[in-house]
Amino acid sequence: MTVLGLARVWALVCSAGWGWAAAQASEAVSLASPDRGKALLLQRQDSGCVLCHQVQGLPAGGALGPSLVGLAERSTKDQARERIADARRFNPQTIMPAYLSTEGLNKVANPYKGQTILTAQGLEDILSYLFLPNKATP
Ligand code: HEC
Repeated sequence: MTVLGLARVWALVCSAGWGWAAAQASEAVSLASPDRGKALLLQRQDSGCVLCHQVQGLPAGGALGPSLVGLAERSTKDQARERIADARRFNPQTIMPAYLSTEGLNKVANPYKGQTILTAQGLEDILSYLFLPNKATP
């Protein structure tokens, strides 16, 4: 990241009143945005989360997976990150796509070969929405 880029992220962090935690996210990832996360969760083609999950503050979702309402009470952000990145690590038979892995996938269409479904940034954005501190729906 350029010095200018860093300065901009830092300015954002300060103006948003967020602490070091946000600024410490990995290099590829800048500031997580719950708004972008919400949009991604709702995306039916790319993420597909709401096809299988009920999510707080979003219109009725699917029931193939457990409801994600109240997730923050039963899971840490790290656990959720691992699960979304590659749910097969917890359950090899899972129907949930491995969003941050390109390993062991079958019949991937050519344009998508070698690409993960989500970017690291997208995953952080989703987490920031799922783990919004107050349960208020934005
Ligand atoms: C095809 C259905 C499907 C899709 C699409 C899907 N999931 Fe899942 N998800 C599941 C199932 C089923 C489980 C239950 C555990 C398992 O099978 O691995 C689960 C578990 C989870 C858990 C753990 C829940 C808990 O109670 O601890 C999280 C978090 C999660 N999913 C988030 C997501 C997010 C975020 C997306 C979109 C990026 C997504 N899932 C897309 C089916 C899906």
